[in-house]
Amino acid sequence: MANIEAHYSAQDIEARILTALREAGLDPEKRLTPEELGALDHFHTGGYRASLRLLELSKIRAGDRVLDIGAGLAGPARMLAVEPGCDVDCIELSPDYCAGAKLLNRLTGLEDRVNVYEGSALDQPFEDNSFDAAWMQNVGMNIENKQKLYEEVYRVLKPGGRFAFQEMAGGDTVASYYPLPWATLPSDNFLIPIEEMQSLLGECGFVSEFFEDASNPQPSGTPEPPPKVQLSLSAYVDDLGQKADNAIRSVKEGQIRFVRGVFRKTR
Ligand SMILES: C[S@@+](CC[C@H](N)C(=O)[O-])C[C@H]1O[C@@H](n2cnc3c(N)ncnc32)[C@H](O)[C@@H]1O
Repeated sequence: MANIEAHYSAQDIEARILTALREAGLDPEKRLTPEELGALDHFHTGGYRASLRLLELSKIRAGDRVLDIGAGLAGPARMLAVEPGCDVDCIELSPDYCAGAKLLNRLTGLEDRVNVYEGSALDQPFEDNSFDAAWMQNVGMNIENKQKLYEEVYRVLKPGGRFAFQEMAGGDTVASYYPLPWATLPSDNFLIPIEEMQSLLGECGFVSEFFEDASNPQPSGTPEPPPKVQLSLSAYVDDLGQKADNAIRSVKEGQIRFVRGVFRKTR
């Protein structure tokens, strides 16, 4: 398990979240929306915007039962619960992220739509054929046994269900700038090349509906809107600036790739 694992007690992470909310001018006593929390709890490349993009690609619909794998503070899960309106189960390894996710579920009034399970993506507590969709953002890079990961996702999806993910993949040369957001040391870094990722998914029985190497940002006509509230992952991620700079440099130099995919369970 790599260093992405949070290292706070449940009380510490709850206190950090509440402090960050108050400093951003939000009142935790009032009902908060998943959108206004987006800069705090979408803990992945591209933040809230990237989650909207993955939602569009995934074709997840209202009423779907969705599994969020490695859910962190469950920001994307709450987004899915509100729009399009899904019931979401989260599996998350780190007890303190689970505590933070449950706190934010309470503050957004979404406890009945978003369930948080502490456990491993490699050994999930769910029945076979349970979910219409599985969702995973910036998690596989922390998991060495990708085959087991994909097998578990396949097992819990209903036939025809979709696995939507965004992820870092290995590039042309070995990653050399550390710390990265998901790895302090090379020994924490479990990236595999794009071809290996696609081939492992295929061996599990998945069929590709969409796959893109999104490493090079597309020119955008619409500038990023200014954030409505000043929240940041730095409330609970150490050395965020240095890690983000190293990741950007690694992508620019082709050491790592950023990919998105939607794969369908066939049987
Ligand atoms: C970069 S965070 C992403 C969190 C969330 N997906 C998001 O985008 O906001 C990676 C998360 O994966 C979790 N994780 C890593 N390995 C895991 C595993 N084997 N099972 C479940 N969660 C895992 C970490 O604890 C962490 O919360």
